[in-house]
Amino acid sequence: MSTTSATRPRRQLCLPGQSATAEGPLDLSGMYLAHHAFRRDLARFAAAASATPVSDAEAWRALAVRWQRFSSVLHHHHTTEDAVLWPQLLELVDAAGNASARATLEAMEAEHDRIDPLLAACAAGFEAMAHTPDDATRDRLAGTAAETRDCLAAHLVHEETEALPLAQRHLSEAGWQRVEKAAGEGGSLADLFFLVPWAAAGLGGEDLERALTVFGRPFRVLLWVTRGRFERSEQIAFRHA
Ligand SMILES: [Fe+2]
Repeated sequence: MSTTSATRPRRQLCLPGQSATAEGPLDLSGMYLAHHAFRRDLARFAAAASATPVSDAEAWRALAVRWQRFSSVLHHHHTTEDAVLWPQLLELVDAAGNASARATLEAMEAEHDRIDPLLAACAAGFEAMAHTPDDATRDRLAGTAAETRDCLAAHLVHEETEALPLAQRHLSEAGWQRVEKAAGEGGSLADLFFLVPWAAAGLGGEDLERALTVFGRPFRVLLWVTRGRFERSEQIAFRHA
């Protein structure tokens, strides 16, 4: 096992729906905030896909745009894990001779691969409903969105209960900062204006206050600036969910 420079356990975020909290020296707040948002979004997309009337063109157009936003954030999250987090951990658990940890980390990548075609099918379904809506497409999309919600939920449980504790046990602060740096790269200002209210949506009282404290004053100011516009768009996309 490698040692970390900072061994003092951090206070972690524990958000609604989170299956486990990996205690340790790394601050996993960004990871838990993203997981909360993925769970929340997929529950809402699955509900919207089955409840939005086929004739509500405005809502379907908004859902198609919103799906693209969601799936690009999820894609970036999974790409960062596959390119930066799991490879670093694989090296460390191999050096420690931990075969069951290797199996867990290989499962993470395999689960990402299983989720990708479901995401593509949802994107195609929402696009079709935005342009050539019909009952059969909607019914198919409702089934695929529910399957995607359940598949991602199972993956997140696996990641939170088995993979993130490995990060806390094996990864150094410098290793985790490489993950955080990659996670923060490549976004535009427009992306940031979406990401901040998106990350905070659905968090109430204490959870929101804790997240605002962790991410600091810039996050708080950006949320204040961006929240109104984000919520107006959400009300159109998810008005039947
Ligand atoms: Fe993750």
